[in-house]
Amino acid sequence: MNHRARQPDWDTIAEKFDVFLPQLAPVGEELLRALAVAPGDRVLDLASGTGEPALTLARRQPQARITGTDAAGGMVRVARKKAAERGLENLDFRVMPAERLDFADAVFDKALCRFGVMLFEDPRAACRELHRVLRPGGAFALAVWSTPETMTTMQWAARAFRDRVSEEHRPPIEKVTSLGRPGAFDALLRDAGFSRLDIVAHRFDYRFESFEHYWNTMEASDILRQQFDAMPAAERDSVRDEIARFARDFQTEHGLVIPHEYLLASGRK
Ligand SMILES: C[S@@+](CC[C@H](N)C(=O)[O-])C[C@H]1O[C@@H](n2cnc3c(N)ncnc32)[C@H](O)[C@@H]1O
Repeated sequence: MNHRARQPDWDTIAEKFDVFLPQLAPVGEELLRALAVAPGDRVLDLASGTGEPALTLARRQPQARITGTDAAGGMVRVARKKAAERGLENLDFRVMPAERLDFADAVFDKALCRFGVMLFEDPRAACRELHRVLRPGGAFALAVWSTPETMTTMQWAARAFRDRVSEEHRPPIEKVTSLGRPGAFDALLRDAGFSRLDIVAHRFDYRFESFEHYWNTMEASDILRQQFDAMPAAERDSVRDEIARFARDFQTEHGLVIPHEYLLASGRK
């Protein structure tokens, strides 16, 4: 397996990551629905990146107290700026690796994480930490990407770059979909001490007016920056053309509609 491929440098792409957030909104909605945060709840949003879903939750549930954590200082800076601009005072953001949470035991009533767990350096340690900081009976809702075949846009990138860059520069699709393997997410959470849990596969769509809109968003997000930097500039257009060919199958009368699948684990400690 190609575990040498690296994830994006979250610190340097932090300012640009937000162009992708609207596509991930349906996943945030499902997580918040599953978590059912109540007034007075103390909530942890793990690997909250530039602040979601924590920011949405803070606006909707002003009586909850929310903490977002992320290992990348650049992402946390963007999240804090957004909270200040929106005048939200019921949340804070802290730079903190998920593997070493700087909180006492059992301090959170609820915890969530959107597309973070599979990226952690040590998901096992992180899930044990999550279990430790949740109070007994506390609820969690975690979303991870499903199988490589259902991570459609990353599959396109993986195929387009496979023969163009060396292994270490290829998109890290194995890592990103590592918890989509049958039984993997369940085993990870049980190992962490969670026994009351349910894992359900959900489908949602990325939606763009056209392939051009999709491509512009990809470029603006810098999510493939490492891959492009590792390749002769003259080949950029050929990558775009190849991905445009993959995208053709997803062109509809409503624009480009690209299905993706994720696993949502929810339950109680
Ligand atoms: C795909 S982004 C998701 C961000 C946000 N939850 C969202 O859905 O918009 C993944 C995030 O995981 C963070 N991350 C990666 N490894 C981490 C670790 N070991 N501990 C904490 N955060 C980590 C990255 O910095 C990045 O912000």
